[in-house]
Order: sequence, then structure tokens, then C-alpha cells
Amino acid sequence: MISFDHVHFRVGQTHILRGLSLHVEAGETLVLLGRSGSGKTTALRMVNAMRMPTEGQVLVDGKCTQAWNPVDLRRGIGYVIQEVGLFPHRSVAENVATVPRLLGWTPERMAARVDVLLTEVGLPPETFRNRFPDSLSGGQRQRVGVARALAAEPKLMLLDEPFGALDPITRLEMQNLFVDLRRRHGVTTVFVTHDLQEAFRVGTRIALLCEGELDTVAAPPTFAAATSREARAFLATLPPEPGGVA
Ligand SMILES: Nc1ncnc2c1ncn2[C@@H]1O[C@H](COP(=O)(O)OP(=O)(O)OP(=O)(O)O)[C@@H](O)[C@H]1O
Ligand SMILES: [Mg+2]
Repeated sequence: MISFDHVHFRVGQTHILRGLSLHVEAGETLVLLGRSGSGKTTALRMVNAMRMPTEGQVLVDGKCTQAWNPVDLRRGIGYVIQEVGLFPHRSVAENVATVPRLLGWTPERMAARVDVLLTEVGLPPETFRNRFPDSLSGGQRQRVGVARALAAEPKLMLLDEPFGALDPITRLEMQNLFVDLRRRHGVTTVFVTHDLQEAFRVGTRIALLCEGELDTVAAPPTFAAATSREARAFLATLPPEPGGVA
């Protein structure tokens, strides 16, 4: 579905991605894990052609991102970021229907789709469809962001630290909601986080980046036993078992 093929990204003398090769299979949730500045966002943005490799290539659906029309490419991709980026002057319903409107759906089809998605993300449509983003809590805005990303049934979803700004309980709710929605919609996902616990909760595989290089790629149970220095540094961030401290 997505292939990074010996991808480098350099800006002047700075080498931000160094020979990244990685394949994302259809239907999986690949987590890009790494500390701040390791190149996660840069790698993610290469999938929707917001960044181009300075060497190597990224293939989406077998086609190099340079060869895609960027508008067509992005319409097939749901994108969720930490700041959500809802349009402040548009209602919740209009925000969710952003891509369907671009695709020329009828008003009836858009309205029906908005109600289904708002219900799925736990926002009763009759209460929320006509509200504006500034009247929502951060968690509710993030739910609208997820609904918007799924609106036109994308084949791919990209999430960049989507739940980083939420309190721990809301964050866990959103992680569980995400896993449930992802299963239901069967959408292939790349999920960026710097939180290993979150990676374990949402990922089918975890790709650890360290200074722009791929350090470890493994499914969560295998990752838990990974031995690289950077993987061990992340494993050390996991909380101890409750009652484990004497
Ligand atoms: N256009 C650019 N010009 C110069 N440096 C850049 C550019 N884009 C990214 N960088 C640098 O590349 C490095 C990786 O950035 P990136 O945003 O990919 O990190 P990240 O892993 O997403 O970090 P964070 O967890 O803090 O979001 C950073 O040091 C950043 O300053
Ligand atoms: Mg980032």
C-alpha cells in the first residue's frame, strides 16, 4: 500500500531521513515511533506529497508520489493532526463534509454521511452537527477531526500525534475509539507518536526512528523484547507494574 524505498531527506547540510525503507501493508496500523526531531512528521508528510524525498522514492498504491496528482492523492487520504485544524467558521457538519463536498456529493448524501460518522465518534448529531469548533472541548474537536478524516472512506489515514494534547482518560477513550473505527473501516493507517504505550495500544507494527534512521520494526510483542539502545530507551519509559515499587 505504501513503500518507502531508500528515502533520504536533506535540507542543506542537515540529513533528516537517512535511507528509510519500509513497507506498510494494506489494513495495518503502522506506528512511527521516535523521540522529538527523529523525522516522524517528515516521513509521514512524504506519504501525502507534502514533502518529497531528496533521494529514493515513496510509492502509494504502487505509484511514486512524484507521479501522483497531489490533489487526487490527498483526497484519498484522511489526515489528522494534533492541532486538529478544523475550519473555525464552518459548523461541525460542514467540517466533516469537507472532502465529500470537494468530491461533489449531493447534500442529502453528505448529511446522511455526517450523521453516521458523528454517531460513530460519539457525538450525537442532533446536538453537535450545527455547533462551531470554538464551542467544543479539545476531545470533542479531535472526534470531529477523526470523523472528517473518515468522511469520504479513504483508503489511507495519516495521524500525527492526534491525541497528544488530551488528558490521559480522554486520550485512552480516543485510542480505543480509533482502534474500533479502524477495524470497522478497514483503513490502512500510519500513526505517529512518541509514546510507546500509545504505540502498543493502537499499532499492529511499530517502526522506531532514531535520528532519521529506521532502528527497529516489529509487532508489539516482539518490540517489547527489542534490544537496540533506542528501543530500550523507549521501553524504559513504560510505567512500572502497580505496586511494583517497594
Ligand atoms: N524544511 C526543513 N528545514 C530544516 N529542517 C527541517 C525541515 N523539516 C524538518 N526539519 C528538521 O528535521 C528534524 C525532524 O523533524 P520532524 O518534524 O520530522 O520531527 P518529529 O520526529 O516529527 O519530531 P516531533 O516529535 O517533535 O514532532 C527536526 O530537527 C527538524 O527541525
Ligand atoms: Mg512531529
